Amino acid sequence: MNTGRYTCLEIFAKAVEDGGKIKVISGQAGSMEQAGMKSYHAWLKFPVETETDYEIVREGCHVSLCYLSGNEDILETGVCYLEQDKESGRFLPADKGRYENSPIRESYHFTPWKNWMNDPNGLCWFKGYYHMFYQCNPHFQEWSNMYWGHAASRDLVHWRHLPIVLSPQQEILEKPEEYKGGAFSGCAVAAGDKVRFYLTRHKGPLKDGEESIEQQWMMESSDMIHFTEEKCIIPKQPAGASFDFRDPKVLKIEGCWYMVLGSSMEGHGAILLYRSEDMEKWEYAHPLLTEEDKGVRCFECPDFMELDGKYVAIGAWMCHYDASRRYQMSRYYIGNWKDKKLEVESSGWFDFGSNCYAMQSFEHRNRRISIGWVSDFYHEHVEQEDGAYGSMTIPRELHIKNGKLYMTPVKEIAALRGINLYQGAGENFSIYGIEGNAYRAEVKFKENTPFDILLGKDGDKSISLRSDETGLYIKTEGVNSRDIIFRADVTQVTELEIYMDRRVAEVYVNEGEAAGTKLFYSSSKQGCFVIHADKPENIEGAEVSLMDTIWR
Ligand code: FRU
Repeated sequence: MNTGRYTCLEIFAKAVEDGGKIKVISGQAGSMEQAGMKSYHAWLKFPVETETDYEIVREGCHVSLCYLSGNEDILETGVCYLEQDKESGRFLPADKGRYENSPIRESYHFTPWKNWMNDPNGLCWFKGYYHMFYQCNPHFQEWSNMYWGHAASRDLVHWRHLPIVLSPQQEILEKPEEYKGGAFSGCAVAAGDKVRFYLTRHKGPLKDGEESIEQQWMMESSDMIHFTEEKCIIPKQPAGASFDFRDPKVLKIEGCWYMVLGSSMEGHGAILLYRSEDMEKWEYAHPLLTEEDKGVRCFECPDFMELDGKYVAIGAWMCHYDASRRYQMSRYYIGNWKDKKLEVESSGWFDFGSNCYAMQSFEHRNRRISIGWVSDFYHEHVEQEDGAYGSMTIPRELHIKNGKLYMTPVKEIAALRGINLYQGAGENFSIYGIEGNAYRAEVKFKENTPFDILLGKDGDKSISLRSDETGLYIKTEGVNSRDIIFRADVTQVTELEIYMDRRVAEVYVNEGEAAGTKLFYSSSKQGCFVIHADKPENIEGAEVSLMDTIWR
């Protein structure tokens, strides 16, 4: 493999038994080796010469992720992933086309190159790029000790994969049978010439409990590639708060800095408020809000923002089932900032599909943009070799209308619209065999009318969007979530915008009045869109078009 303009080779590896070895061999530049590797996960970094040929040889160890990094324009180029060729055993630049053609990762929803991903972290815009960090496990398709992955984009649509930024604490990596934890979720604040990051470090036994330690840490960067050492800024939860004490989000209100943290108090999920003058010394104030529902273990990944003249808090409800058995929904609360608390006037579900969790927002040029993790709460993931597990929602622009949180896909997503498959009105229609199963559909109705739209079918498994006398809902058949009704809180349906992308269905209703995200795994590379309205004459207009991939 030739290094091109890259200057660093990063390898995530684990010895099968203590004593494994990785050799990086070059006839031109000399060789390097990491011997005596242990049977726990290690992150190796080898400096390499540019435009030089190297061979990677692994002995007695497993490599889970490998890429070239270190070039000056990496924000433009991204890293270069290397994969081991099955026949020759050589590590070669990965075939990027696999992104576009493979049903095992999304086409226009962000996914990691492979393996596990959860919450978006550190969303911000800085010096011409949108940055997205995210919780990840580069080693396999399962949540485990947490790293921070990183990607950047100029347009919120096309992303470049960047080097991993943070890894779990060494003592956790060394004793995975005793501890779990790592670099948990957090946020970024771009202020002047640098960006400050706030995150939780978790260290605890395998089962969460009083011995679990969650502390808030801070670091900085001025180029988003190099980061200062982390500094502990809040070592302990305040009196009365549970050991769940994490996911800092920082904002400025009336010239003062505030941080919200997810926790619980006396058995009620709570969003805790901290205050600071200098962004480094933080003082606990009080709960910003406490949730009455007793079924919430804690809030996770709280967000707090000013929006359209109001204040909005959003938080993910850990371990909660709602009345229709939807698991871990996120709730928004709209109100006024009064006595440094949120005086709530209205609230609602953030996403009615309940495969969207841990959303985070940021502001750029007067737009409040949010991204959520497309989460698999009903265990519907189908593991495939080299597959990605977890993706991000389309970035959404947030607004408030009539006391409700409105969400629409950012306008930039229109750049992906491809070949038109259907345009018409006043009739029911079916499209089967949509190659690649990545499309967008828009339907407008003259008046509320019962309908059934088939969005995916695989043998006796299916996903549909339906509207009947009980309202609008997503319904699956033949999969784990089949007994759950994913209902939107709307009283009528006048407009639908549907994004189907391989394994993810994202539905926007009535120009943002509700949004629903639902996973649906299909073994077919082809998609379908079949609409049947009781009164087809009420279909004022419909359009279906292919969506391009973001990976090109
Ligand atoms: C939410 C969450 C956060 C935590 C992170 C760990 O999905 O549990 O509360 O920081 O994921 O990966």
